[in-house]
Amino acid sequence: MTSFRALVGTVFLSAIVFQSCLVHGNFYSDTYFNWGAKHAYIFGDGDDLNLVLDQSAGSGVQSHKSYLFGSIELLIKLVPGNSAGTVTAYYLSSTGDYHDEIDFEFLGNSTGEPYTMHTNIFTQGKGNREQQFKLWFDPTADFHNYTIHWNPTAVVWYVDSIPIRVYRNYKSEGIGFPDEQGMQVYSSLWNADNWATRGGLVKIDWTGAPFRAELVNGTGPLAFSNVPILTEANWWTSPDYMQLSSDQQWKLKWVRDNYMIYNYCTDYERFHWQMAPECSKPQY
Ligand SMILES: *[C@@H]1O[C@H](CO)[C@@H](O)[C@H](O)[C@H]1NC(C)=O
Ligand SMILES: *[C@@H]1O[C@H](CO)[C@@H](O)[C@H](O)[C@H]1NC(C)=O
Ligand SMILES: *[C@@H]1O[C@H](CO)[C@@H](O)[C@H](O)[C@H]1NC(C)=O
Repeated sequence: MTSFRALVGTVFLSAIVFQSCLVHGNFYSDTYFNWGAKHAYIFGDGDDLNLVLDQSAGSGVQSHKSYLFGSIELLIKLVPGNSAGTVTAYYLSSTGDYHDEIDFEFLGNSTGEPYTMHTNIFTQGKGNREQQFKLWFDPTADFHNYTIHWNPTAVVWYVDSIPIRVYRNYKSEGIGFPDEQGMQVYSSLWNADNWATRGGLVKIDWTGAPFRAELVNGTGPLAFSNVPILTEANWWTSPDYMQLSSDQQWKLKWVRDNYMIYNYCTDYERFHWQMAPECSKPQY
C-alpha cells in the first residue's frame, strides 16, 4: 500500500456521519478522483465507475466523507484476461501516522490463473495482519458483492454474503481495534508489478492495456453511531454485538478451510513464533 498511499497524498477527515440509513451510493456525489481522473470514468447516473490503468497511470476514487462504523458494499468486476501485475484495491482508511485501515485487494494474474484476494487490517498504524484467499468463482466474468461490515464489536469481510474473515474487538485485552478514527472509502486500480505477481517476477503485459475494473451500485456507506440505532440490515441482531448465524459460521469455515492460502496467524517463521494476540482469540 505504501507506494499507492504516497500517490494519494494526505487527505483530511471531513465530518463523521452519525446516522442510520441505507444509502444507495452515487459515485458522482459521494466520491471524487484522487488520481488518474483523465482516464477513469463514472457513468450511468453515477451508479457505475470504471477504473482504468494504462502505461501512464492507474486511477482511484475516494469518498468525500469519513465514516465511523458502517457497512460498505461494492459490486466489482475485475480486470479480465492477463491481469498479472495489476491490483484492484477497495479499502477504508483514516489518515496520519497512527491510521486505521480495512482492506480488500485483488492481485491480478496471468490469463487462466486465479486472482489472489488479499485482506488486511491496520489499527493505530499497525498492520501485518494479512489473510489471502482464492476465489470460488471467476471474478472477471461478472459483478460480485464485496462488503465490509464494521461496527464497534467486529469487522467482517463478506464476498457475496459469505463471511470470509472476522476481526473482533478485544480492545479490553490490549488488542488494537479501529473504533476511534473515521475512515474514508477508497478504490483504485494500479500497477503493482514490482511485487504482486510471484513477488514481482511477472510484469504487466501492456499489450493488453488499458486495463479496466468496473465497480457498480455501491450502497452505503451505511453509517451508524455508537448509539444503538437499529439498522435496516438483519445481519446485526443487535448493533452492539455482531453475531454471525450458525449458517454464516458454517460458510466462514468452508471458505477458510478450502480457499484461504495465507494466514498471518500461522506464519510462525515470519513472526518468530511471537504470534499476534488476536490469533488465539475466537474470530467468528
Ligand atoms: C497466480 O497463479 C499461480 C498459479 O496458480 C499461483 O501460484 C499464484 O499465487 C497466483 N498469483 C497471484 C498474484 O494471485
Ligand atoms: C451484499 O452483501 C451484503 C452482506 O452480506 C448484503 O447485506 C447485501 O444485501 C448484498 N448486496 C447485494 C446487492 O447483493
Ligand atoms: C445496478 O443498479 C441498476 C439500477 O438500480 C440496475 O439496473 C443494475 O442491474 C444494477 N447492476 C448490477 C450489476 O447489479
